[in-house]
Amino acid sequence: MRIDDFHRSVKSQVENLSDRLDLISYMLDIPYSEVVSLNRDTVINSPLLDIVLSKINEGIPVAYITCRREFYGHEFYVDNGVLIPRVETEILVTEAIRIINDNKLLDKDVADLKVVDLFTGSGVVGITLLNEIRGLNVAVVDISDEALRVVKKNVNKFNVESRIEIVKLDLSVEINVENMLSDNDIILANPPYVSEEYYIDMVENLKHEPKIALVTKDNGLFYYNMLIYFLTQCRDRKILITEIGFDQSDYLKELCYNYGLTHYFLKDYLGINRVLVCSKG
Ligand SMILES: C[S@@+](CC[C@H](N)C(=O)[O-])C[C@H]1O[C@@H](n2cnc3c(N)ncnc32)[C@H](O)[C@@H]1O
Repeated sequence: MRIDDFHRSVKSQVENLSDRLDLISYMLDIPYSEVVSLNRDTVINSPLLDIVLSKINEGIPVAYITCRREFYGHEFYVDNGVLIPRVETEILVTEAIRIINDNKLLDKDVADLKVVDLFTGSGVVGITLLNEIRGLNVAVVDISDEALRVVKKNVNKFNVESRIEIVKLDLSVEINVENMLSDNDIILANPPYVSEEYYIDMVENLKHEPKIALVTKDNGLFYYNMLIYFLTQCRDRKILITEIGFDQSDYLKELCYNYGLTHYFLKDYLGINRVLVCSKG
């Protein structure tokens, strides 16, 4: 099949051009940058072509076909054991880097800062911080064995074994969240935040990703209620930086206000409040 025919035959299922180019790069086993300049008459002479076409027909997301996803300029390993990292999560990472580099905030050297990435999934948040900030160490936490398997692959890929602690923990248990907050200075979190009701409506789009990575109780607010409550219980200054759902900022604003927490939101590319930063004092 020629490249031109490939584009035409999968365009309705894979609308994003860069995703289609990534699939061609995967099938031909050449860098993405080279695919862009290939003639559209070039034949995709690859044993992977039929497999790729049938997975596209099944609706399998491109990242699960190629087992890779770019995040913050680096290519991470992903598979269907983890959530596909979203571009919005880069906002959380950018803010975390800014806060950590602004050491006046916590008055600690980078090497002494205790940073944890809760609900780590593929590890993109914690590992990106290690890629970007020399001297930093992080702990990453998830309950899922599948996620921890993927994290380990990425830890090897980026050669950060000596700077990361991988922890298996159930963060629906209050004492675990309390300990995570009291043991760390900066708490990063991208928890499941989709309500059961919304998930049922969205299931066609989300059905290939692990439900445990997406859905939680209390209308999607379960983990925020717990994280914010235990933040208020900490004696030292801590900073919580968390991604939030598109319709959750009004509730979270009020919660932070009622608890007397300093807080602000960061908007995503659509102008929606997408990241909450809050601290006590
Ligand atoms: C929204 S995904 C975030 C993945 C990754 N941090 C990212 O931004 O791409 C949420 C993650 O939380 C994990 N998780 C769900 N319930 C959990 C629990 N009770 N304790 C710990 N981790 C949990 C899931 O396994 C999943 O990897």
